[in-house]
Amino acid sequence: MSSVIAPLEPSRSRPIPGDSGPPGIGHSLEFAQDPLGFIQRRMARHGSVSWCSLFGRRMNVLLGPDANEWVLKTQGAALSNKGGWNVFLESLFDRGLMLRDGKDHRAQRKVMQVAFKPAALRGYVEEMNRISDERVAQWETGDDAFLLYPAIKSLTLGLASRVFLGMPLVDQSSEVNQAFIDTVHATLSLIRYPIPGGLYRKGIQGRAFLERYLTELLPEKRAQETPDMLSRLCHAISEDGEVYRDDDVIDHMIFLLMAAHDTTTSTLSALFYELAKHPEWQERLREELWDGAAPGIDLTALEGARYSEMAAKETLRLYPPVPTQPRLATEDLSWQGYDIPAGSFVAISSLYTHRMPEHWPAPQSFDPLRFDNEGLRHKGHPYAWFPFGGGAHLCIGMHFALLEIKVVLHHVLSRYRVSVPENYEMPLEVVPLMQPRDGLPVRLEPL
Ligand code: HEM
Repeated sequence: MSSVIAPLEPSRSRPIPGDSGPPGIGHSLEFAQDPLGFIQRRMARHGSVSWCSLFGRRMNVLLGPDANEWVLKTQGAALSNKGGWNVFLESLFDRGLMLRDGKDHRAQRKVMQVAFKPAALRGYVEEMNRISDERVAQWETGDDAFLLYPAIKSLTLGLASRVFLGMPLVDQSSEVNQAFIDTVHATLSLIRYPIPGGLYRKGIQGRAFLERYLTELLPEKRAQETPDMLSRLCHAISEDGEVYRDDDVIDHMIFLLMAAHDTTTSTLSALFYELAKHPEWQERLREELWDGAAPGIDLTALEGARYSEMAAKETLRLYPPVPTQPRLATEDLSWQGYDIPAGSFVAISSLYTHRMPEHWPAPQSFDPLRFDNEGLRHKGHPYAWFPFGGGAHLCIGMHFALLEIKVVLHHVLSRYRVSVPENYEMPLEVVPLMQPRDGLPVRLEPL
């Protein structure tokens, strides 16, 4: 009997190039100071697949639209969201939708979808109009610089308290606001141990406060259906008949407040900066969003505002509020001949992809017409633009966010002309959140 010996398969796997950076802190500081510069330097040195040391973990960074598509779309639960995001969000935003995987994630997402249906959106838009009208009318005009970023932050907080919680406006200095800020800030604390006075401990305390605050609101929200998102989550029933328990509602609400608030604030500030630098676009959006009547805009008009949509999309290209997305491999995987063993971390970057000259001619310039589908000027790779992620975890609030951005645009542009000095360049902080370092001083001129 002849025995057949199978020829040895030559190993096709390649070691991922990279290094662990300075002892102790690794690359965390270099990344936090200038994430785009850091990733671009890694690309120049190692190519589109490399590893570095971030936040105490070895992180495999995969760059480019194909890698984005592979990670977001094709890998499903083999690349865990929970495992990836827990590096930053564990104990602070536990059991939020983005921190769930597989079957559990799918079932929970179906319930949440009920709170994003057109009838619900119509109700949110009415509230957004009411709050924006009140708040924006109080902004200071004149020759003095007006700090736009804190004003937008306060406005979006007001929107969150009405639209999400159905509560009267939360004061900037209130305990709820402080608890919320502490919880978000703790996400980037390098020390993940509750040392007295430390960032992480404050975050844990902030989360505990928010849990107590929301728990007190629940009986009233369960008793009666009102148009706010908290009430909608209490009453939502998925097509499979699933509902949320009280602890689900609280976990989702805390996560939603975080997911919605700073992302929208960051996008709006960057958009107003670009509109101040490009008065022709400001005029075009004013014409599109305002017919000269008293402020107020409905869902149909918002959905039809295509130039505003393009300007928002271009802003999200240049300033993606979620600049990188981490995942944890739960199985042995292989990407372009590189082994990614189970238990290792992977990250992709919209900040990097959105400025790749191969996909975006003149990547630094603000040109909303790139997103003009009728002109077919944006015919790129489907994952060359992904500020809202993609695949199973695609941002559930994408439509909501674009509506909120347009409502605020409408109220500001129907009252004021926004300008900055000609030589002004907005100094940007990217980590923990994309925001102007100087509060974005602008001049508001009443129309
Ligand atoms: C400009 C504003 C926003 C941006 C850029 C943004 C971006 C993102 C991104 C990139 C993800 C996917 C993260 C990942 O898979 O790793 C995500 C998920 C999510 N976002 Fe947003 N978001 C925005 C606004 C909102 C708003 C307004 C809400 C709610 C009202 C929201 C709720 C969520 C939720 C619940 C998830 C998790 C979805 C899931 O895991 O199934 N986001 N967002």
